[in-house]
Amino acid sequence: VEADAIVLFGATGDLARRMLLPSLYFLDADGFLPDGFRIVATARGELTREAFLEVVHKILSDRPEGLDEAIWARFSARIAYVGADATTPEGAQALKAGLGEATRPFFFLAVSPSLFEKICVSLAAAGLATPESRIVLEKPIGRDLATSRHINGVLSEVFDESQVFRIDHYLGKETVQNLIALRFANTLFEPLWNSLSIDHVQITVAETEGVGARWPYYDEYGALRDMLQNHMLQLLCLVAMEPPADMEPDSVRNEKVKVLRSLRRFTRVDAAEKSIRGQYTPGVVGGKSVEGYEAERGQKSGTETFVALRADIDNWRWAGVPFFLRTGKRLPEKRTSISIQFKPVPHSIFGQASIHDLSPNRLVIDLQPDEDIKLTLMNKAPGLSSGGMRLQSLPLSLSLLGAYEGKGGRRRIAYERLLLDVINGDATLFVRRDEVEEAWRWVDGVADAWAEANIQPKPYAAGSWGPAGAFALIERFGKAWSD
Ligand code: BG6
Repeated sequence: VEADAIVLFGATGDLARRMLLPSLYFLDADGFLPDGFRIVATARGELTREAFLEVVHKILSDRPEGLDEAIWARFSARIAYVGADATTPEGAQALKAGLGEATRPFFFLAVSPSLFEKICVSLAAAGLATPESRIVLEKPIGRDLATSRHINGVLSEVFDESQVFRIDHYLGKETVQNLIALRFANTLFEPLWNSLSIDHVQITVAETEGVGARWPYYDEYGALRDMLQNHMLQLLCLVAMEPPADMEPDSVRNEKVKVLRSLRRFTRVDAAEKSIRGQYTPGVVGGKSVEGYEAERGQKSGTETFVALRADIDNWRWAGVPFFLRTGKRLPEKRTSISIQFKPVPHSIFGQASIHDLSPNRLVIDLQPDEDIKLTLMNKAPGLSSGGMRLQSLPLSLSLLGAYEGKGGRRRIAYERLLLDVINGDATLFVRRDEVEEAWRWVDGVADAWAEANIQPKPYAAGSWGPAGAFALIERFGKAWSD
């Protein structure tokens, strides 16, 4: 059933401004918002509706896409602003009034996780948590297994699991969904998608941004909990999962949970051998000098802003195939990519002259900034050579940007897809309770192993690819990062 309203908590906050309000506007522009769909924006600040609309108008006008006044007229008519503290009975009543005739709202909590519980309880008390409503939450859902269980427990007292939509915005990215299409809408790859043909997998999520003013949150979480527990494990699941029978939410999520359960638990020995933590020191990123993490933080800190590790999936398909995951702040470029490295040819017929040219096939899925899929293939280098054929590696390349250009050229915000799915009640791209908890269970194991082995973050200069140990880590297993 289609939702008929969104109640947007944290409507004046950063996520609402950068992502959610623009996404709702674009959905409206493309005709995806149902007739009569209401947007009840709420935050604690006392603002008039007019003042709030002015803010939204400015946000949309400042975007590169620009604002279409005709669409704005339709869009703004949907918006109500309720200045209220939703954790109080009066606040919840004000929201109820703001909803007017709407009976199938979804509550989008773009607020600090410390408010999740209180808002749920207050929605229930006000009779707003009806079976027709839905609730949408952003990460972090807890800081470890125990705290995530607690939040999920509170949610489950108020909402049925089928009403809960946990966002991992990476699942809304076009190329992430394309990974599912690539694997399961082609016959080419699936027969090779296993330990017989694949040597190893690399997943890199590199960011140039530092932590900056977000340190009060970040310092408590670090790269492992901020990025690896959610976004990176989701990517790993989509690469590694068995083919689901269909695209029903539970079919896909069942397969992802099986992967998470198959992740080998980290030991104290693994902590030193299979992982490395880093923290950036002052350096230069994109030609600009930047501070180190501790200067931003204002004091010494044992939090990692970089992590690289080897994960192993103990099942039949992936036995012996390492998955190397790497993420960090203040790296040289913003890049998210998945690289599937195939095994080398079993024997070279090309003789000594070419032996060093031969590089194994690699399927690279770039999520950002460029969205493309490349398959490197060996081919003959053009021209003549004496003493044997010269070979070279060239990519077969599928540029998705080119494909979008035909479709109006605009890259969608990940939240457009996700908001539309919530409106339609499709939970396929949302994280189920057991998924989030299994991911925490494994991540807790890594954090515990670090604590037992006293693994501290190693310094790396901002603008470098992390501590030297990140290279040593992958080389220890006879591989190299595929930059
Ligand atoms: C968020 C993290 O979930 O993802 C941030 O909290 C990170 O630290 C961000 O910067 C990265 O998202 P994207 O879409 O820019 O890759």
